[in-house]
Amino acid sequence: MTSRLILAHLPTPLVQPKRLAKHLGIDLWIKRDDSTGGAESGNKVRKLEYLLADAVQQGANVVITCGGIQSNHARATALCAAALGMRAVLFLRTKEESRNIANEPLTGNVLLDRFAGAEIRLITPAQYAARNALMEEAAAELRDAGQRPYVIVEGGSSGLGAFGYIEAMREIRRQLDMGLGGSKPFDVIVHACGSGGTAAGTALGAALHGVAAQVRPMAVCDDAPTFEAIIGRIIAEAREIDPAVGEPANVVVDDRAKGPAYAVSTQEQRARMVLATRLSGLVFDPVYTGKALSGLWDLCESGELSGKRVLFLHTGGLPGLLAQGSTFADDV
Ligand SMILES: Cc1ncc(COP(=O)(O)O)c(C=O)c1O
Repeated sequence: MTSRLILAHLPTPLVQPKRLAKHLGIDLWIKRDDSTGGAESGNKVRKLEYLLADAVQQGANVVITCGGIQSNHARATALCAAALGMRAVLFLRTKEESRNIANEPLTGNVLLDRFAGAEIRLITPAQYAARNALMEEAAAELRDAGQRPYVIVEGGSSGLGAFGYIEAMREIRRQLDMGLGGSKPFDVIVHACGSGGTAAGTALGAALHGVAAQVRPMAVCDDAPTFEAIIGRIIAEAREIDPAVGEPANVVVDDRAKGPAYAVSTQEQRARMVLATRLSGLVFDPVYTGKALSGLWDLCESGELSGKRVLFLHTGGLPGLLAQGSTFADDV
């Protein structure tokens, strides 16, 4: 049995952005998981409900996690830890040459991490490759100093974290049963994929609760085979925790919208993000949701989704956009 804290503001709305749907030519619905909370908002809060419940149960007083310098996951963890009276230690990946937090602009997620009082340890891309060992080392040091640390892997993407999205699919099932979202199951769920946990939980929950037959995670970095392996591993971990979750829906990882690099978008992606906002009032970010939206846009243009009922899972990420405002100078 998994225990859960209530951290998110649920249920999040299930909306139909009519003008955007018409522009894309599909039956489009959006699950507003950008609205799971205040500054801690986004997909990570759902995973943290399970992960931090485990931390509390284990008597932890320090949470250790990792991510890119503008990690939404690290920010959500820092804020939720502060709410629970725990300290947060964040291992954040940054460029080799700038190893001092004082040199990092106080924008977006970094600003919020600092507000939350998190301890930030900057690490290089090479050190990031060994992030799990680094976090375990830090945990051992803290234990030696009499603290009670709890390590959360990148993105909260473990079998336990995946339960956040199994539960999210149950929430959508209830919304469909109430006549929301067009009442019928979706043909496909599209969302941004960065560390695989959202995809794993969504695939398991979508099948378990009859929400959709297919899940299409849009990779924002790395290629499809890499994510297929990661998602498969997280699904197996979740099924080990609770075999009753059953078989996942069909997962088709799509890496065509990952752009030039992690957190770097194309001009076309940025233009689509801005147009989508003007057609819907919804805001997308250039690291995650904007790339996923652009991938969805390509599928609509190629006709692959014609006649399909599509659910776009909006996973948040607004601070990441605000940290990159100047890259939109030509688009707004
Ligand atoms: C805004 C946003 N969307 C999507 C994702 C991807 O989710 P996951 O890490 O579960 O693949 C993340 C985190 O990496 C995120 O911060």
